[in-house]
Amino acid sequence: VNGKIEIPVVVNVLYRTTAQNISLAQIQSQIDVLNKDFNALNSDYNNVPALFSGVKANVGITFVLEQVIRKSTTKTQWGTNDAMKKTAQGGIAPTSPTTKLNLWSCVIGNDILGYAQFPGGPSSTDGVVIDYRFFGLSGAANAPFNLGRTGTHEVGHWMNLRHIWGDATCGSDLVSDTPTHNEENYGVPAYPHYSTCSGTPVEMTMNYMDYTNDNAMYMFTNGQKSRMAAIFTSGGPRAAFGI
Ligand code: ARG
Ligand code: ZN
Ligand code: CA
Repeated sequence: VNGKIEIPVVVNVLYRTTAQNISLAQIQSQIDVLNKDFNALNSDYNNVPALFSGVKANVGITFVLEQVIRKSTTKTQWGTNDAMKKTAQGGIAPTSPTTKLNLWSCVIGNDILGYAQFPGGPSSTDGVVIDYRFFGLSGAANAPFNLGRTGTHEVGHWMNLRHIWGDATCGSDLVSDTPTHNEENYGVPAYPHYSTCSGTPVEMTMNYMDYTNDNAMYMFTNGQKSRMAAIFTSGGPRAAFGI
């Protein structure tokens, strides 16, 4: 990928209450967080420990808000079966999903912050869902998930990133410059946190693809950057973005 990667974004808002009909300012705050986090412009980027300074990455992908679509609903929660993406189920079908990133803001339920579809899935359900309480800079009431990092984490999945612990004990995320983690980390882990996996590496708990609090995650790596860039190249699953 030589040119700059610019992703048009469509935000689909499903609301039952006025609070759920999130403002344009809140929507834009999520776009702003993505632009910071994917361009190493986040203010906590300099908190990356020296141990990881050689692998931390400016991913170099920008996001442009193109359209906001709003729809009222009587549904109290949407779950994780993609109903919010289907008109026949009261949801909003994605707009041009092969050339635009679609985000949905709605009530998911069951304490789920967000979920994403990996590249290569059906275009009719492609995109990222974020519960409205965690969409963008969402205020103190939603701490510790109020800094928009659910969006960053989920867009990471949408760009083919796996959880850093590989969803298994000492599992693999298919990225060579991220250390092997025992399992997911929560909260604000103390540094250094050693893995007991082979080689006992210091875990990269501050990676966006762990499960820590929003204020405890602030980096991607070069290996993750390559994995993301690859999906947009010719023959890649998101080549239609024309980047
Ligand atoms: N549980 C969600 C997922 O696996 C999102 C986790 C986001 N973490 C955060 N600190 N906002 O995709
Ligand atoms: Zn995840
Ligand atoms: Ca790894």
